[in-house]
Amino acid sequence: MRLTNIGLGLVIAIVSAGFAGGVGVKDLSAVTKEGDSVSGREIYANTCIRCHGIDGKGAQGIKLVPPPADLGSSAVQNRLDGTLFKRIHEGKPNTAMGAWKHALSDDEIWDVLAYVRTLGVGSEEKP
Ligand code: HEC
Repeated sequence: MRLTNIGLGLVIAIVSAGFAGGVGVKDLSAVTKEGDSVSGREIYANTCIRCHGIDGKGAQGIKLVPPPADLGSSAVQNRLDGTLFKRIHEGKPNTAMGAWKHALSDDEIWDVLAYVRTLGVGSEEKP
């Protein structure tokens, strides 16, 4: 029984190694998905900008408690894709950050997350 399991494991390992060139990379999409930041930008402009602002640092003249998260900050950027996806999907209780699962499809959330990732580039290097 044990031996069979090891044998099966080996076969799977060999088969996945065989796919590693192409399909293997895509297997990661079980937990994370490469969104399209160009379409994400449009979604962001339509749905997120009014709170998070054009650069993710928060919209001007908006007073929320707690304030919108700085999306370019390392506090946000250091989170895993899955964590941020869930946050956008489910929202954050007792904050203005609502659940977007009704307004956006999963693919749209991955797209907008891909755009959120672009906000981190550069802003991290500034002191
Ligand atoms: C009505 C205002 C509002 C809108 C619209 C809004 N957010 Fe937020 N968002 C917030 C607030 C407020 C927080 C901060 C919550 C906190 O500090 O705990 C937040 C937090 C976040 C965070 C950080 C969560 C974390 O784990 O720290 C992400 C990522 C985020 N928003 C993405 C988005 C995206 C993407 C959209 C558009 C689909 C969006 N938000 C639309 C108000 C908003």
